[in-house]
Amino acid sequence: MVEPEIVDWEAYYEATLEKPLHPIFERLEPHLPPGGVALELGCGVGAGVLWLLERGFEVVAVDRDERALEIVEGRLPQGARCRLVLADLADYSPPPADVVVAGFSLFFLPRSEFQGFWSRLRTALPPGGLFAGQLLGVDDDWRTRGYTVHTEDEIRDLFEGFAMLDWEEANRPGKTALGEDKHWHVFHVVARLGAPR
Ligand SMILES: C[S@@+](CC[C@H](N)C(=O)[O-])C[C@H]1O[C@@H](n2cnc3c(N)ncnc32)[C@H](O)[C@@H]1O
Repeated sequence: MVEPEIVDWEAYYEATLEKPLHPIFERLEPHLPPGGVALELGCGVGAGVLWLLERGFEVVAVDRDERALEIVEGRLPQGARCRLVLADLADYSPPPADVVVAGFSLFFLPRSEFQGFWSRLRTALPPGGLFAGQLLGVDDDWRTRGYTVHTEDEIRDLFEGFAMLDWEEANRPGKTALGEDKHWHVFHVVARLGAPR
């Protein structure tokens, strides 16, 4: 059975405003180019957007929720080189980007939309382009919600042609950002398209 989406996004944004940045950003940092365009997909309240701006990137921040973009807009420093894009990834064609961050966002796409989006994303990455983000594994509690979950082999296939820079599989009970119990099965990935530099 497929459950409808039941995330209370307003409560989620409030909870994540105070949360420390996810460790994947630390893992991404040593691989960053000195500047360029960074794309944040499903940016939420924009902690990653601010982090990328601080590192000199011109940022394109995408979310399908107007409220998320409103919050990000309110957090941007004066003159920030940041474009906010209201779009659903299901029909979004990403612009060329040197770095793509997709923190806990791509799996919200239904499976029927995921592969098309992934192909468009790959086209947007130049050789040497970086990806950092999370995908859900098949043991995740949210597998019944119509979100996209993947086996490890499927994820390795998605990253064919990438050098894997950092890879962690976490398959254990935990909490959601709102403090609810949840079994998480998450693949945390930092990868570079093409050979490692
Ligand atoms: C779990 S939050 C993650 C936010 C942020 N990346 C982080 O790690 O804190 C997922 C975000 O992705 C957005 N989102 C979910 N599905 C989306 C879609 N199909 N298109 C665009 N944004 C989407 C949600 O609105 C939400 O802001």
